[in-house]
Amino acid sequence: MQDFREAKTWFPFFTNHPNEIYFDNSATTLKPQNVIDAIGDYYAKYATNPHNTDSDLAYQTAVKFEEVRFKVQQFINAPQVEEIIFTAGTTAGINQIAYGLRKLIQPGDEIFLTQQEHGANILPWYRLAKECQGEIKYLPEQNYQIDITALEKVISPRTKIVTFANIPNILGYENDVPRIVKRLKTINPNIIVVVDCAQGVLHTKTDVQGWGADFIVFSAHKMFGPTGVGVLWGKTNLLEQLEPLFLGGGMNNAINPTDLTYRKKALPACLEGGTPNVSGIFGFGAALDFINKIGLDNIISYAESLKAYAVTQFEEHLKDKVIVYNKTTPTPILVFNIKEVFSQDVATHLGTIDHITVRSGDHCARLIGAVINEKNTVRISFTIYNDKNDIDELVQAIKKETAFLGRL
Ligand SMILES: Cc1ncc(COP(=O)(O)O)c(C=O)c1O
Repeated sequence: MQDFREAKTWFPFFTNHPNEIYFDNSATTLKPQNVIDAIGDYYAKYATNPHNTDSDLAYQTAVKFEEVRFKVQQFINAPQVEEIIFTAGTTAGINQIAYGLRKLIQPGDEIFLTQQEHGANILPWYRLAKECQGEIKYLPEQNYQIDITALEKVISPRTKIVTFANIPNILGYENDVPRIVKRLKTINPNIIVVVDCAQGVLHTKTDVQGWGADFIVFSAHKMFGPTGVGVLWGKTNLLEQLEPLFLGGGMNNAINPTDLTYRKKALPACLEGGTPNVSGIFGFGAALDFINKIGLDNIISYAESLKAYAVTQFEEHLKDKVIVYNKTTPTPILVFNIKEVFSQDVATHLGTIDHITVRSGDHCARLIGAVINEKNTVRISFTIYNDKNDIDELVQAIKKETAFLGRL
């Protein structure tokens, strides 16, 4: 397995916070130097808007911008580069899909999701269902994963959309996307399958052609890239049917003031109205270079090894004091509670006293209480700049906080 001993030196965050242990990677990862440089480079060296290629500089900006789209295409194994739509993030992508599909939903039509979804993959669908008098339903689960064998019992001819995270952001049990898609399409080939890859994109290989799903979405900031950048990928014929969420510059060829209509540009421009986050997209390109250089497989196996180590350390040192909710998945997310202590007290103590950044609460997956019978947990998540020493320090800190908080 690759040695990431030097990884902390690649991330300027640790120069500024040498004593901080950062375990909130599921919320957002830190950024390596090359990503930070690429963002600055755009402003210092390119500065122009890629929508206007009149000047040489604007042309260079447009070329570099489109190179990033190509890198994304390779990264997710998309058949067409025009199918890569830049967005502001996962939330923006899902809102575009849900808004764009409203003509599809008739009263009584069903939209299926899971109770482990992040709010970003719940609320746009709730709104769609309410506005179109559709129905929200929940997919059957077994051992925290979508139960493929039970799909047949719940999916009906009224089912129009099925959406789920390939790796949900609390428990992290991976759903078998190709098998789920195959099953759904066998039951009804017209079902549109939307996969939220916000967490999964750094924890598993994304392969849209292998998966057969119709749309996927993810955010750059959870994969060492900048905030405010994301990707919506969809099959060409479906992207062409989406009603654009953002109307304005860059997405139209002509405006007709007589009948108040416009002529849409071809993909991807028609779904990218407005000046894009150019610096962020340059930074995203650098993040993809960074991941490709290290190798996604190496990142995944190293992060998973830390999860396995954390589970053994929790078992060995904290067994009586701590409940772990997701020991049995390799995904590098571990959620726990100190018995009888509120998760936010734990997170605040770890964060302010021990300089260990963790996350508490329901992690925006507000329906999770229906799945694990506990709404609030402490979440830690691992990536390349974490190491066993970080986990040892966390275990010691939890022991200390358990003694203190348990006495309150
Ligand atoms: C599974 C999942 N979906 C969606 C989101 C929302 O991502 P963003 O805030 O980048 O739009 C997150 C963020 O935590 C997530 O984990």
